[in-house]
Amino acid sequence: MFKTLPGFRAFSPEDCSKRDYIFDVWRRAAKSFAFREFDPPILESLDLFTEKSGEEIKSQLFEFVDKGGRAVALRPEMTPSLARMVGEKASGIRKPVKWFAIGENFRYERQQKGRLRAFFQYNADILGEDSIYADAEIIALLIESLRALGLSENEFQLRLGDRNIWAAFLEDCGLPESAIIPALSAVDKIAKVPSEVFDEILSSAISGTSIPAASLASKIRNFIKLKSIEDISANFSSAASQKAELRLADWRKLLNILDSMGLAKFVSPDLGIVRGLAYYTGFVFEAFQTVGSGRALAGGGRYDALVKKLGYQDMPAVGFGMGDVTVSDLLELVGKQKSLPLSPEVFVVIGSEASRNKAVSIASDLRAEGITVDYPFKLSGFGKQFKQADAVGANLALVIGDDELLSNTAKLKNLKTGLESLVPFDSISSTIKSILNR
Ligand code: HAM
Repeated sequence: MFKTLPGFRAFSPEDCSKRDYIFDVWRRAAKSFAFREFDPPILESLDLFTEKSGEEIKSQLFEFVDKGGRAVALRPEMTPSLARMVGEKASGIRKPVKWFAIGENFRYERQQKGRLRAFFQYNADILGEDSIYADAEIIALLIESLRALGLSENEFQLRLGDRNIWAAFLEDCGLPESAIIPALSAVDKIAKVPSEVFDEILSSAISGTSIPAASLASKIRNFIKLKSIEDISANFSSAASQKAELRLADWRKLLNILDSMGLAKFVSPDLGIVRGLAYYTGFVFEAFQTVGSGRALAGGGRYDALVKKLGYQDMPAVGFGMGDVTVSDLLELVGKQKSLPLSPEVFVVIGSEASRNKAVSIASDLRAEGITVDYPFKLSGFGKQFKQADAVGANLALVIGDDELLSNTAKLKNLKTGLESLVPFDSISSTIKSILNR
């Protein structure tokens, strides 16, 4: 007996229709913001991720050597591939680039609820635009993509952090620039580990500096608690306040524009959000469910240096990734899960072998009009076929038998209302389309 591998899912047609409903909503949301779809390869050179994604992802790669001796990895995320694709076209492409993708990613993670080893992710990114309005647009699309699934501010919230303000704060604490990124990786762990462990991680992150880890840890614990722009501003020394104020002006601008979009109720400042991935450079954010387990639904931020680091021109970028696993768990939890229809719209009841050819010819015409049609392969009595039509969930049964062949008229039964009518063969498709509101 074979089983699916741990962390992998096998999707039945019912599972696919739930998943595709979510993809459909995401796709419509992205297109309503004038984003265009792209599709990067699933398998990439290993070094695309080992150099660009950061330590955590590095340890989770599905990596192997292919038959040509290349070190490759299944993609754990799409952002490095996107940066390469846009970087390759950078000089000829119209900016800002607004691209989205929906595809499967792979991470060899420890098994836990909401975290799998193969999961789908919806990504949307803007490249070539450094203004705060691009950050606002990305955050707005993230929120609208969850709202379009029927989720409200009572079910999810977006927490907004900022690596720039952290860098200014750590600098104000005396930390040299080289220790800032390692210190931020430590801050990323603060809520996930016991406080003694955090102290150790921080201490090793800043070990090359003269700053005492214990006093920095306590400053960090105070800073991370601040929830308003005014409190953050008050936390800087007078020497650093000018730099901090400039950045806090960006904060005000961003929150203000989100307010104008009617989205302020979804967003709250939270310095605890610094994000684990190595490439983020500015605002960072995560959307969490506020019911049930409180898990992360999506995360993203600004990453202005990645395209250049891959060897292309300097290009600012901001984007997010949203996973299907936690989103569909949340929809189920709050009773808002939906599926795309699986049932045929029309079931053709075939009266006899003599009428089969006409029946399949009508079925083909209807399918060509975009109507979903099913019919039986083995013929049975009318009663059994009507039961079959009900069992597959069809809306309409269309009867083609010997009598219908003689009169060139089919019997049409609406299986939802029970209403029956006679329809001449040449007006079957127009009648059915008007019943189905096409
Ligand atoms: P990330 O935070 O690693 O960011 O992933 C974003 C979302 O993908 C998470 O919030 C979660 O919903 C989902 N996700 C991640 N790992 C798993 C997993 N093992 N199982 C199930 N769901 C998972 C990124 O991937 C960035 N590349 C996003 C981004 C795009 N930043 C800028 N542009």
